[in-house]
Amino acid sequence: MNTFAEIYHPEFVKDVQEIYWDHIHPIGLATKGVHIKSVFIDRFKPEFGPLRLVFKKYDFLAPHFLIINLDPNYSTPIHLDGAEEGKMRPISFNIPISGCNGECVTEFYDIPLSSFWKDTTTATRWLNEGASGPKIGEYRLKENPIMVCPQTPHRVNNLNGSERRITISWSLRTDWTFQQAVEYFKIQDRLILQ
Ligand SMILES: [Fe+2]
Repeated sequence: MNTFAEIYHPEFVKDVQEIYWDHIHPIGLATKGVHIKSVFIDRFKPEFGPLRLVFKKYDFLAPHFLIINLDPNYSTPIHLDGAEEGKMRPISFNIPISGCNGECVTEFYDIPLSSFWKDTTTATRWLNEGASGPKIGEYRLKENPIMVCPQTPHRVNNLNGSERRITISWSLRTDWTFQQAVEYFKIQDRLILQ
């Protein structure tokens, strides 16, 4: 429960899926392999209008998300989200867009922070060459969103996949801990217990 949790929220998923192809996909560039684009919702640009509406509708959201496109036969390296102190999001809310067929697996590892190096250009801490550690959990994103603590070492593995997997990883309120977010959705009876 400290790393990820499945959440029942079809309305939010539908709101994001409905605007994805017209208003989110064009912001990211569709490239081969692993493509991750970090997006801050601009308060003024007209093209961000539909995204601002979704952001304002749900009080648990931060104005930031990642567009993650992952082709079959590719995996991200093991990493931690964020590189600079104070800019490491505590919670991401992963929303399925397409190709979320259960073949792609998000894997979590027990590896000390000292084994990662800071990459400020991608706002990510990547695992040092040669470092490793035991796998401690995994989930497969299908219909329900999964809320994740991206401060646990993880990778998204589509090595055995047959489809490009597209997701939005929306940051939740940065004043919340992962456990506070779990409580928030639990009170609303949206927490799906495995
Ligand atoms: Fe990540």
